[in-house]
Amino acid sequence: MKHWRIEDVHWDQFDPSKIDPEIVALVKAAAMVERNGIDYGTYLNRVFLDDKDFCAAADRWSLEEVQHGDTLGRWAMLADPAWDFEAAFARYKAGYHLPLLTADASVRGSRTGELIARCMVESGTSSYYSALADATEEPVLRDICRLIAADEFRHFKLFYDHMKRYLSREGIGVWQRIRIAAGRIGESEDDELAYAFYCGNANADAPYRHEQAIAGYMSRAMTLYRYHHLARATGMILKAVGLPPHGRLYQLAARFAWWLMRSRHQKFTRVLAQSA
Ligand SMILES: [Fe+2]
Ligand SMILES: [Fe+2]
Repeated sequence: MKHWRIEDVHWDQFDPSKIDPEIVALVKAAAMVERNGIDYGTYLNRVFLDDKDFCAAADRWSLEEVQHGDTLGRWAMLADPAWDFEAAFARYKAGYHLPLLTADASVRGSRTGELIARCMVESGTSSYYSALADATEEPVLRDICRLIAADEFRHFKLFYDHMKRYLSREGIGVWQRIRIAAGRIGESEDDELAYAFYCGNANADAPYRHEQAIAGYMSRAMTLYRYHHLARATGMILKAVGLPPHGRLYQLAARFAWWLMRSRHQKFTRVLAQSA
């Protein structure tokens, strides 16, 4: 059962005077990545084949991700009536394939590892939509982002609870969990987001250049974050790898994450300026 439906959004309150084109560009990219969640649901069903409870939960989860995509896509078409979500998504699907679609076992080496990787993604999306909700002045997008963020926090809990169950069986050590988590965070700069940003925003005849696309996406996305958004995500990441999400370690980790994001933001802004 979904917690909300697209029809629940107060679309009639859309205010075009409050649109920020930089945010529209981000929403177009997010819409495609979210809608592609259905493919990840298929992969999770293969990895957890004999775990019927988890497979049922993964199916519900992927439908919620698809709804995130459809809702964001509908908003982006209101904000930019010339934009065609279906055409952009078809282009995305034709050019980008999840690298794990043919795998029968988790590409993370274990089911615990797979679920830790999912926790990383949900830490990122929950903080991202919280930041986007706080940054936008457009009332419909703000409400959509709050609804989506609430789903993403629930998704984190879903994967975290299943991860704890598998951890007690598989006994993956904390360093291995940290390695898996760091690896998945690093993958956020791969093609999945970059290619979505390109398909959502570049002309059809423009060549795809990864460095330019990821810089275009990240330089805009990182602008939205405030310290408390990233600090909360840091606490979730620590919890997922089995470290205390509060106290001295948490404070140091949150400060380090903030410094890292700011330095990455400067780098992406520089790359974008050079490629312009
Ligand atoms: Fe989502
Ligand atoms: Fe999610």
